[in-house]
Amino acid sequence: MSYMAPVPDEIDAYDLPVSGALPPELTGRYVRNGPNPLPGERPGHWFNGHGMLHGIRLRDGRAEWYRNRWVRTGRLAGLPYARPDGGRDLTAVSANTHVIEHAGRVLALVENGLPYRISPDLGTDGPLDFGGRLTTAMTAHPKQDPATGELHFFGYGVRPPYLTYHRLDASGELVHSREVAVPGGTMMHDFAITEHHVVWLDLPVTFQPHLAGRTMPYQWDDGYGARLGVMRHDRPGAPVRWFDVEPCYVFHVGNAHEDASGRIVLDAVRYGRADFTAVWRMAGGSGDPAASASFEGSARLHRWILDPATGTVREQALDDRAVEFPTLDDDRVGRAARYLYTSDDSAIVKYDLVGGGAGSHRLEPGTYIGEAVFVPAVPGPRGEDDGWLLSITTRHDGSASRLLVLDASNLAAPPVAAVDLPRAVPAGFHGSWIPDVARRR
Ligand SMILES: [Fe+2]
Repeated sequence: MSYMAPVPDEIDAYDLPVSGALPPELTGRYVRNGPNPLPGERPGHWFNGHGMLHGIRLRDGRAEWYRNRWVRTGRLAGLPYARPDGGRDLTAVSANTHVIEHAGRVLALVENGLPYRISPDLGTDGPLDFGGRLTTAMTAHPKQDPATGELHFFGYGVRPPYLTYHRLDASGELVHSREVAVPGGTMMHDFAITEHHVVWLDLPVTFQPHLAGRTMPYQWDDGYGARLGVMRHDRPGAPVRWFDVEPCYVFHVGNAHEDASGRIVLDAVRYGRADFTAVWRMAGGSGDPAASASFEGSARLHRWILDPATGTVREQALDDRAVEFPTLDDDRVGRAARYLYTSDDSAIVKYDLVGGGAGSHRLEPGTYIGEAVFVPAVPGPRGEDDGWLLSITTRHDGSASRLLVLDASNLAAPPVAAVDLPRAVPAGFHGSWIPDVARRR
């Protein structure tokens, strides 16, 4: 066993043991997605296991239930991704990367297919194509504008159109789609928004036709170059302004914003060539990632400042710690944010991007922690870090997991609460807090 080992089945557990005191304001569900192959199945690449949702339902200071469910995708039912006509079945995917709520709908996402709509008890309602309007895949990292409620996203593919930008209005209707010209098919896992712009990551991990038919046919490509693109999202047809940058790869954006000079400031977790290659080899190499002792390849928080007035870009490392899974207060997406939360696998690390420095909450030895989701304290005015961080921890030997609740404003303090889960939850990808009462924006 290891903390990456998949679980063999779906279970339900009720009235979970809680240490500390769960804030009664935390009434809703924390749901996290991740890859979980069926028993006996070897996905070939850790990123390729079927999506499994792990959910914990909190209400009025109690942990009412835990349950886990595979997302019932076409692929889980055995449908092939490649269709006989050469096209792709965008429902025959894993839906294993993220789970978000927008316009009252909960969606399980993976970047090579359609979103799957999820019910409150983690059942699968089915794929969603927004009335037939979405004809590309949908990224697992859409961005909701905190002021408008719009959901910005994109789809990428291995043949033209390589990249398509989409936007939902606040009611969840797909109201805008446009192709964005890029030289080729890259693995574009994430992107950024600001108040007026989309920021594209056109980076040198490209589709490799000779690997087609394998699970993740992408590799580092020294010949592709590396560019960031800035595009007004409020002007249909606006051109993309491209900026050449030092070659790198980015799975995850922390945030972006426009500064007082009109420059675009992008903070993201950056991999150099060697680190990307190492993490890619680890995830895809053995076919049995559960046997891996740990993640390999490390990435660091990095800043790019793009100046549309001069066409220049400045970039700098912000820290030398190896971190991943950046998150922030959702009310600051696309706006200047002071705090970013990340994981270094054994601690939650909180960056102060204004005051400088970082604080952390380190776990007991032998415990893994992934992404932490910020949940704002409600109601009323609050500071940016006035709220909680939720994350699932897993013992390295696969013996146990907990849902940890930390005070985001004081990571040095002991956890506010911890919920003992009925068994180990394998390390996964991304999740969301879905409150019972939607917050007003
Ligand atoms: Fe991701």
